[in-house]
Amino acid sequence: MNKVVVLTGAGISQESGIRTFRGEDGLWEGYAVEDVATPQAFKINPDLVLEFYNQRRAALLDKNIVPNAAHIALCEFESKFSGEFVLITQNIDNLHERAGSKNILHMHGELLKVRSEETGEVFEWKEDLHRKSHPQNREDLVGTMRPHIVWFGEAPFEMITIEHALRDCDLFVAIGTSGVVYPAAGLVHSTPKHCRRVEINLEQTPVSPHFHEKRQGRASSEVPQFFQEILNSL
Ligand code: APR
Repeated sequence: MNKVVVLTGAGISQESGIRTFRGEDGLWEGYAVEDVATPQAFKINPDLVLEFYNQRRAALLDKNIVPNAAHIALCEFESKFSGEFVLITQNIDNLHERAGSKNILHMHGELLKVRSEETGEVFEWKEDLHRKSHPQNREDLVGTMRPHIVWFGEAPFEMITIEHALRDCDLFVAIGTSGVVYPAAGLVHSTPKHCRRVEINLEQTPVSPHFHEKRQGRASSEVPQFFQEILNSL
């Protein structure tokens, strides 16, 4: 086995205390995520959209939020595996980085970054973001800042690198993702014929039939176990 590609979704961070997008009632203040995470929503009601991400950013920075055994197992696998390892995540949290993973592609952006819509410049950001916020000494950017997040209707980041990584992978593992948001849900179709495809999730998803194997259970127990099995088999 030369190349392993992993796709993670909100389910891997759920046991670290971060809310998934479609769990429980799936709503935030009565809004579906699809009604808040859009360029149209940001145009019509920027304060509402900024508040959604301000709350999530503050929740992520809570000292009790730490990587769990699944994040750590992926980092350990990456460090022990002699082949190529690529970690694609839909998550906008930084728990993979904090666990120590190296080769991470954030296809939906990052919560702790903001971007100027005018210049495209990206900045690290830990505070709340308001309409008048601007990076230090950059008053010129007032009114142009937005979360560095891919909203519904926008093109995900890193797609060329992602498609390239999938093209010749030998093992593809999707962890904790509901398989309803495209193009992420369709990445499984970009893997080659010989590739072993494994889904780790609490439940069945619409894309489950496209995987060879299903490990049904919590990411914190299934992920360490699965990747240990892979290391043992090499
Ligand atoms: N272990 C394993 N799987 C879990 C766990 C867990 N502890 N907890 C939840 N899950 C599974 C759920 O069964 C569900 O299938 O994780 C999935 C979470 O689904 P979503 O909340 O839809 O998250 P995700 O698939 O990452 O969402 C995709 O939608 O709103 C957008 O941009 C946002 O990246 C996000 C995208």
